[in-house]
Amino acid sequence: MRIFLDTANVDEIRQAAKLGVISGVTTNPSLVAKEKREDMKAVIQEISSIVDGPISAEVLSLEPEAMIQEAREVSSWSPNVVVKIPISASGLEAISVLSKERVKTNLTLCFSLNQALLGAIAGATYISPFVGRLDDIGHDGMQLVSEIVEVFDRYKLPSQVIAASIRHPLHVSVAAQAGAHIATVPYTVLMQMIKHPLTDIGISRFAEDWRSIQK
Ligand code: E4P
Repeated sequence: MRIFLDTANVDEIRQAAKLGVISGVTTNPSLVAKEKREDMKAVIQEISSIVDGPISAEVLSLEPEAMIQEAREVSSWSPNVVVKIPISASGLEAISVLSKERVKTNLTLCFSLNQALLGAIAGATYISPFVGRLDDIGHDGMQLVSEIVEVFDRYKLPSQVIAASIRHPLHVSVAAQAGAHIATVPYTVLMQMIKHPLTDIGISRFAEDWRSIQK
């Protein structure tokens, strides 16, 4: 199980990288826009200079040929870039061409087992089921993660499952139990994962007890 950071905020990425627990980053156009950064290439290259692992950057083209051209361009930005491609007929066509060129891809906006299956068969390196967005509409997002992991295991499909659209620490624990290869988490969730009230109480009690015997 690995943890990626789901953000385009380079300050957050720098802070998280220091902890030694982040092995990749995922971005999307909304996350880059949130940082008011207009130059996607500059953002992705800056992130690549901080984190060695896979950095997902998303294409915006919708037609297969344009998607493939854009993906080739995006993958040239840095050796560790993974091209994020939304699931669609065009997306599958692009992934199958790119996988033969050894361009790494991340099938994004995945909301069903069939979408995941098609992405894996087309040759996507990563498949990203969006857990939180499914929960938001009253479905069980983590159930989808379990189903994808089980089917990929059964048929020995090599795509790695990224539990995405993570909203809170429990999502990460359950994703790990479900066998997701990766959970991509917002910075706030990463910070919440560190905390436990009993740890805080324990630390202050140790300090108080030690102070109590000092002259
Ligand atoms: C994943 O790769 C996406 O960037 C992300 O997890 C989407 O999360 P959201 O539903 O919180 O926007």
